[in-house]
Amino acid sequence: MSFTIAIDGPAAAGKGTLAQALSAHFGFAYLDTGLLYRAVGAGVLAGGEPVAVAQALDPSDLNADTLRTQAVAEAASRVAVIPDVRAALIAFQRSFARRDGGAVLDGRDIGTVICPDANVKLFVTASAEIRADRRFAELTAKGVQADLAAILDEVRARDDRDQNRAEAPLIAAADATLIDTTSMTAAEALAQAITIVTAKRA
Ligand code: DC
Repeated sequence: MSFTIAIDGPAAAGKGTLAQALSAHFGFAYLDTGLLYRAVGAGVLAGGEPVAVAQALDPSDLNADTLRTQAVAEAASRVAVIPDVRAALIAFQRSFARRDGGAVLDGRDIGTVICPDANVKLFVTASAEIRADRRFAELTAKGVQADLAAILDEVRARDDRDQNRAEAPLIAAADATLIDTTSMTAAEALAQAITIVTAKRA
């Protein structure tokens, strides 16, 4: 039987951490849909045409490690405004969502466009400042030199582009539960999400 958990929210709000922990807890498959857009962005940085890259994408062939750079994130946010790019990625996401045994998808438009009938919809957010702080801490922990003010500018620019595009903008579905992680630990956010999912499955 299928059971779909849709998780949306802005960059660096903790969606990925929460989605992975939920999928491990319930034994569901996990899809980070941002990787699809990142792969298209990377293809464009390599000289490809966005729609052609999206149509030729083999989603089973994504290497998360090479797609985690700031330049690729920026390119992903730019290609994500193109309606034909989004259209090319819909079928894969919908069939993933319906797979037997349950699925967790995270992104920007999962609860609104990809899976409007998802069993559980969560909208995970946090202030731009705290998201920039977390990204900064993550980078410095890896030994990468980072500039907090530049990260905050980038977070705000990406929020602005993701929220204000015409096609499938980042917005909470009317029936989504809001989880604001600004003053929460990852464990607290997970506990809240598990309670919500468990109630829906009962
Ligand atoms: O979640 P992420 O940072 O990996 O996403 C990268 C970009 O991809 C994000 O800025 C907007 C776009 N994206 C999208 O438009 N829709 C999704 N479902 C997931 C990501």
